[in-house]
Amino acid sequence: MPEIIEPFRIKSVEPIRKTDRAERERLLAEAHWNAFLLEADDVLIDLLTDSGTSAMSAQQWGAIMVGDESYAGSRSFHRFESAVQKIFGFKHVIPTHQGRAAEKILCGLMLESGLAVPNNNHFDTTRANVEFTGAEAVDLVTEEGKDPDSLHPFKGNIDIEKLKAWLAANRGNAPFGMLTITNNAGGGQPVSMKNIRETSEAYKAAGIPFIIDACRFAENAWFIKTREPGYANKTPLEIAQEMFSYADGATMSLKKDGMGNIGGFLALNSDELAEKARSVLILTEGFPTYGGLAGRDLEALAVGLEEVLDESYLEYRIASVKYLADGLQKIGVRIVQPAGGHAVFVDGAHLYPQIPKEQFPAQALVCQLYLEGGIRGVEIGSLMFGDKSQNELVRLALPRRVYTQAHVNYIIEVFEELWAERTNVSGLRLTKEAAVLRHFTAHLEPV
Ligand code: F0G
Repeated sequence: MPEIIEPFRIKSVEPIRKTDRAERERLLAEAHWNAFLLEADDVLIDLLTDSGTSAMSAQQWGAIMVGDESYAGSRSFHRFESAVQKIFGFKHVIPTHQGRAAEKILCGLMLESGLAVPNNNHFDTTRANVEFTGAEAVDLVTEEGKDPDSLHPFKGNIDIEKLKAWLAANRGNAPFGMLTITNNAGGGQPVSMKNIRETSEAYKAAGIPFIIDACRFAENAWFIKTREPGYANKTPLEIAQEMFSYADGATMSLKKDGMGNIGGFLALNSDELAEKARSVLILTEGFPTYGGLAGRDLEALAVGLEEVLDESYLEYRIASVKYLADGLQKIGVRIVQPAGGHAVFVDGAHLYPQIPKEQFPAQALVCQLYLEGGIRGVEIGSLMFGDKSQNELVRLALPRRVYTQAHVNYIIEVFEELWAERTNVSGLRLTKEAAVLRHFTAHLEPV
């Protein structure tokens, strides 16, 4: 088989700045050993998130020039609406400035204290929007999904038996049910078509609408094509259309598989709910034909949604994440297996067994990655979740179409250095923390 190459050539470049070790030591100390507090210009390779960091294509930039900025009835909205409807098939498409705005509108309309929403795993903002109403966010991912070493092909699946039992025990308490594809909080793991269908049946039997968190739907479609029997000869578009045919609506952050730098939507089949959502939208986001976005954004997103389903793009995308995962595993670094769609999750506690949980082994890895190579990842462990944390992970999220294979080789080389030096690293202690979401602003220092 010939090498899977980047299926694009580069037309416009953005320089990245190399710093030396002494400079990085000063910069990290000034940032209080918290990578969120670094200036982006001081980072060489930024793997903090795949959200809003995609490179747009020449076609997307071209579409930007024809954006219609009319307040109402914009031509760009209709292009956007038909691009979304072609893939997702829902009757109503309500644009929002990003994914969490769609979540906020849906949760605000349907939830209150005493109610609950089941999901495989709620992403942080989804959980926060559910909990903000006083309702409970219930995670029902399968046992394989919780086991970092399991090689199950669909570790994002919801546990259907648990879901049915939960729905039976909570009749009347769940106004809607969700499924996140891919499952970001569970390691970017995919959900099978069978699981989507069975989830739909369970929600239907319970008489509640089924809403998909669709952020990384194209990556999920590719995993179905390559891993689930019966889908090898279907196109990613056909697979996506089938996935959403089982649902009643979706929340979407177009900053991921919309290939945009900003954008989102709430899509619904219910006329009644859509009407209520549009009324809130006017209060919080804007008129229903732009919803917090410029016409030019809507144009670029319409093109991005088409490009993200291109087979050579998806083959390259999933292969590049796997390439990083394989490189790290060869060194001996423990990762959540198999590689996810958008990121590799590295086990900081395995790399630094000498650092106790209270001294944030995964945050120590975030800091070492920066000191050694100017690379920025994000801690998903005790610093983020406190005592509730199950694992001490660092997420290395790959922005779409941004870094080349040479960049990934460099990341692997930096890990080789970290592996060789792993016994010399000590932990961190907090010197300042906020009451909520402390990882964003916390100050730390080496122990
Ligand atoms: N749902 C999932 C599964 C997500 O990963 C995100 C964002 C959202 C909803 C919210 O979308 O940012 O447009 O408001 N995830 C980003 C990340 C922030 O880094 O994983 P948003």
